[in-house]
Amino acid sequence: MADSSAPREQWQSHWGFILAAVGSAVGLGNMWRFSYLTAENGGAGFVVLYLIFTVLLGLPVMLAELTIGRGARSGPIAALEHYGGRSWRWLGAVFVAAGFLILSYYGVIGGWTLRYAFEAFTIGFADDPGAHFAVISEGHGSFAMQVTFMALTIAVVSGGIGAGIERVARIAMPALFFIMLGIVVYAATLDGASEGYAYYLNFDLAKAMNLDVVVAAAGQAFFSLSLGMGAILTFASYLPKDSDLANETIVISFADFGVAFIAGLMVFPLIFALGMQAEITGGTIGALFVALPKAFASMGAIGRLVGGAFFVALVVGALTSAISLLEVIVSASMDAFGWERRKSALLGGGAVTFMGMASAYDIDVLGAADTIATNLFLVGGGLGISIFVGWVMKDPIAEASGGGARSPALGVWRVLLRFVVPLALIGILAQSLPGTWATITGLFGLG
Ligand code: TRP
Repeated sequence: MADSSAPREQWQSHWGFILAAVGSAVGLGNMWRFSYLTAENGGAGFVVLYLIFTVLLGLPVMLAELTIGRGARSGPIAALEHYGGRSWRWLGAVFVAAGFLILSYYGVIGGWTLRYAFEAFTIGFADDPGAHFAVISEGHGSFAMQVTFMALTIAVVSGGIGAGIERVARIAMPALFFIMLGIVVYAATLDGASEGYAYYLNFDLAKAMNLDVVVAAAGQAFFSLSLGMGAILTFASYLPKDSDLANETIVISFADFGVAFIAGLMVFPLIFALGMQAEITGGTIGALFVALPKAFASMGAIGRLVGGAFFVALVVGALTSAISLLEVIVSASMDAFGWERRKSALLGGGAVTFMGMASAYDIDVLGAADTIATNLFLVGGGLGISIFVGWVMKDPIAEASGGGARSPALGVWRVLLRFVVPLALIGILAQSLPGTWATITGLFGLG
């Protein structure tokens, strides 16, 4: 057991927490994943569905995670035990397992972004980005960059909540925001940008009615908001008791959606203005790493500058998200084994990196891990949390309001958690299960 006499670490300020939580939410999900899924699923219809799920499912589950974490003041396994007894520890363990799975491939993609940012400022973008991506995305090179990216992540988490995670988020998040705005403005000046906007913003109801699109949008809402595996829960465990959780929920969620939306305003005009749409409209994992570099390469010197800035923003976003994934593992092992933070970060991060070798050496494993993690673990985890807080936890409204006034909105929240969220998630899970199962059997060569 952890030494209970040592005071628990805490965020240094309200804004420090908000920035760290937004840093968790804003990452590759908002840029890499959001762009390629939007392209793959037909543009604005997908974006609208994703917004609907952010509000209908994301907000209630985020408030649920914040409530559990702040109240229990511990990592996910101990937190579920705190409110539900020993028989609920398994759900916390599933969260930690999900953290392992997600960070294992997230670190690989983080490594790619690091390489592209570095190359932009040294050798420039390759003439044939498709061939270049094929070389760097699988094999020793990919693994080496994954190790580098994970070493950075481990270093920050070792620094602790205030001096490590919060300090990085305070610099990284404003920087990311301004870089993105700069690129959005630049992209708007390009000839042909309007075709990109048209593709991104034209609503096609028929495409949005497709159930696979619905599943993808729900999974994306959970992935992008960092929900369904205790990351937000863990960050909330370092909050003071008097924080206003409903307010934090709204600020974090809309900041995350806003950044994803802005990412679309940056990516689509760039790609269409430079005639690279064929590279992205198929929507694959590599789309962002092929189509955009092609666009940047064809822009000459300014392309290196804009492209370099773009990939720096991506690195920053990926790092602050990876930090939150590792923190789940670290806080759980500090709770369970009483380890020091540094030791937990090193051992946990090392194990994740090792597991991620499978993705670093095979991009199909990476894609399969992403499908399984999102459609199964995160959606399933969201279901578990909503049932837990809606049905098992005693008086969640009092816990969420932290002794303050019981606002009527919290009554609506509880109804959503009891009925709307679980039913929606069961439907989504059922719809995605055959595909996820095929992915699993395919992964193990059984398909
Ligand atoms: N939300 C991050 C992104 O969009 C990824 C992430 C960080 C995450 N922590 C998480 C996803 C926890 C799921 C669960 O890139």
